[in-house]
Amino acid sequence: MKIVVTKNYDEMSLFSAKQIMEVIKDKPDASLGLATGGTPIGMYQQLIHLHENGLDFSKVKTFNLDEYVGISQQHPESYHKFMYDQLFNHINISPDNVHIPRGDCSDMHEQCELYEKEIQLAGGIDIQVLGIGSNGHIGFNEPGSNPEERTRVVQLAESTIKANARFFGSEELVPRLAISMGIQTILKQCKKIILLASGEEKADAVRAMIEGEVTPELPASFLKLHPDVTIVVDQQAAKKLIVSQAS
Ligand code: GLP
Repeated sequence: MKIVVTKNYDEMSLFSAKQIMEVIKDKPDASLGLATGGTPIGMYQQLIHLHENGLDFSKVKTFNLDEYVGISQQHPESYHKFMYDQLFNHINISPDNVHIPRGDCSDMHEQCELYEKEIQLAGGIDIQVLGIGSNGHIGFNEPGSNPEERTRVVQLAESTIKANARFFGSEELVPRLAISMGIQTILKQCKKIILLASGEEKADAVRAMIEGEVTPELPASFLKLHPDVTIVVDQQAAKKLIVSQAS
């Protein structure tokens, strides 16, 4: 695991956008694995800026990590809408190359299988962006997740429902289920991973991920089993790392 501590959120966003740019420059038809949440918004803004300065997304494919189950793509808080608002509407990506798991299918099992197949057909994911929940989740792989699982329907943890209530206006309105790439999907299908974390509320999870043991209780700790992971954290999120205290 490589650790990059940035001065602040903006520097974290710029650093991670440049990582993605390098992958696209090297491989114009790269597959990007994308995340939602507040953390990557700055990175998406930087990617839009890079696009305005020539970065070409016309051949790029994208695969999102997760989506809520039971809401339509048009729902104001769907990850589908988030991705179009934050990134896809502002770059030259073809909608045919955008993959976001659907949470509104009658056969969710079939949707999960299909999503895994689409990732495999694309030859895997060249660079996957991850955030981290304050309970250590990645995607919607909550504490207790089995590392052998692939894309599937999952139950959200109470702490995630509370954390995401800010987007829905109240806890009651947050969906209880989601469809998420599994830990196995992330470890086996992604060639390179960057995990972004910003703010003090992520400091405990970041420390446990980097300095703790590999355990299903902290799903992000499984990233230690992957050969090419870069953790990009701002100083607030890094403040409980022993290594950051020594420097
Ligand atoms: C959400 C998403 C994750 C995201 C995490 C952190 O529930 N499913 O993919 O990384 O929680 O979100 P935020 O960046 O808003 O803290």
